[in-house]
Amino acid sequence: MGAKIISGKEISQEIRNELKKEVQELKEKHGVTPGLVTILVGENPASVSYVTAKQRTAHDLGFHSVQENLPEDVSEENLLNLIKKYNEDPSIHGILVQLPLPKHISEQKVIYAIDPRKDVDGFHPVNVGKMVIGEPCFIPCTPAGILEMLARADVEVSGAEVVVVGRSNIVGKPVAILLMQKRKPVGNATVTVCHTGTRDMLFHTKRADILIVAAGRPKVITGDMVKEGVVVIDVGVNRIGTTPEGKAILCGDVDFDSVKEKAAAITPVPGGVGPMTITMLMKNTVESAKMWAGLPNEVG
Ligand code: GUN
Repeated sequence: MGAKIISGKEISQEIRNELKKEVQELKEKHGVTPGLVTILVGENPASVSYVTAKQRTAHDLGFHSVQENLPEDVSEENLLNLIKKYNEDPSIHGILVQLPLPKHISEQKVIYAIDPRKDVDGFHPVNVGKMVIGEPCFIPCTPAGILEMLARADVEVSGAEVVVVGRSNIVGKPVAILLMQKRKPVGNATVTVCHTGTRDMLFHTKRADILIVAAGRPKVITGDMVKEGVVVIDVGVNRIGTTPEGKAILCGDVDFDSVKEKAAAITPVPGGVGPMTITMLMKNTVESAKMWAGLPNEVG
């Protein structure tokens, strides 16, 4: 079977067009310009490339966007002071500190320092807690992007057997929580989470109607591990080499070539979940700007 390709690139473009119009309206009707600050510590090449893409997208959508580049050896105190500055800056509605951070800085302290009402990453415990009990909040961008892809690709989620591979705080845990909730249009699934302690991974992956893979290792799911007709969301972005021109060669956590032969639908890497993550960050920032302006919104 030839799988349908769920293109994050195309769905992202659709949503970005919607957001661009919304930003224009917010400016014209309400004098509100969504503001996003991205804070990068050090020069990790993957982080530089993600932050650059986030800034470029924010700029394209007409945001007020600010980029802060801090040296690798910046003190924790200075980083926390910078966050405090943006917590108090009314032109900023979203604060993103790119992770991972150097070892001498506590990620927990940094995440806790961000005002939960500007936490467009959805990593602050206030937002995590609200998400778990189904209250309006900032939903982490990758899980939000996965939900949006399933919705726009018309995948039947209610009642489905969903298997999530990976239990990270950024992807595995939140996506499992969201998909099990009684929420529309995407939710109400029976969710199983597999991880490094799972005794029989094959047993679970083989019976998945929807398989979401965020294992952080290249090509761990192969065609023999899935059933015919599965819908596969591949969250992995693994750098497995460099082209002669110096561009990174990427692959997912799923072995695309063998799995696509059995899947009903599958996301590619690159061009799948990656662009959606950035788009949902933009959406969270627009929703935050509306919240701060006292307008109807989805986050507060
Ligand atoms: N590093 C990898 N993914 C993310 C993300 O979604 N947000 C932040 N802040 N850092 C990341």
